[in-house]
Amino acid sequence: MSESFENQKYAPIGVFDSGVGGLTVAREIMRQLPQERIIYFGDTARVPYGSKSRETIVRYSRQIIHFLESKGVKAIVVACNTASAFALEKIRPEMKMPIIGVVKPGAKVAAEITQNGRIGVIGTEGTVGSHIYTEMIHMHNPEATVLGKACPLFVPLVEEGWLKDPITVQVAKRYLVYFQESDIDTLILGCTHYPLLRAMIREIMGERVNLVNPAYETAQGLKRLLEQHEIANDGGMLGEPMYQFYVSDAAEKFKNFANSILPCEIEEAQLIHIEE
Ligand code: DGL
Repeated sequence: MSESFENQKYAPIGVFDSGVGGLTVAREIMRQLPQERIIYFGDTARVPYGSKSRETIVRYSRQIIHFLESKGVKAIVVACNTASAFALEKIRPEMKMPIIGVVKPGAKVAAEITQNGRIGVIGTEGTVGSHIYTEMIHMHNPEATVLGKACPLFVPLVEEGWLKDPITVQVAKRYLVYFQESDIDTLILGCTHYPLLRAMIREIMGERVNLVNPAYETAQGLKRLLEQHEIANDGGMLGEPMYQFYVSDAAEKFKNFANSILPCEIEEAQLIHIEE
């Protein structure tokens, strides 16, 4: 193996989202790939992504990927369903390094576990309107019926930290009533913010419905990708910071939130001007 490949093994993984949602994916990477370093970017100045146009999300994603590349990452995880839906396939051909999103892994697992072929998807307006989950599920299970429901208020409620608030319960009930007569047996949490509301969604949907959090499968997919490219970290280069966090606004609020859900304590989130 060449020396540059050797060094690449020890480079971090770049992970990004519009805000705190992608931390649910970062958390899963930390659990499943504990030897990998992570550089996380949360676009807290420009959240939400879910109501913005495809062109805007492609532009934001390009800026963030350039920033992560400048930090020397070896692979990118698009820890945002909206950016995975709108930007991933557009940007992939421009990239030299491996890149993975969250939609494909989530769709695959839902198609595999459904018993009755009736799958619900909740996500942002962008993700649900793109019908990307339907397309991806049909690749594995062409007969499946896929019902999508946009839940745009979930993102600001999660960013605000109202994970158990009665108002969030009311909002969740109002959105999820859509599935009441639908007979779905599987529901994809198709926005990386939503696993933070998992207990509430479980309570409303009942035990009979499988809840799919694409983060788990995404971390598995990342592991395979790093192995294929022979850039998985074997535990070397100790002393480098394991995890670094960058945001485009409200760094202190982000840090406090991250510390409430991550398995490690983060000391700071650094503020950067992503447009520059
Ligand atoms: N967490 C992101 C997603 O998975 C984006 C949410 C948003 O910013 O609207 O779609």
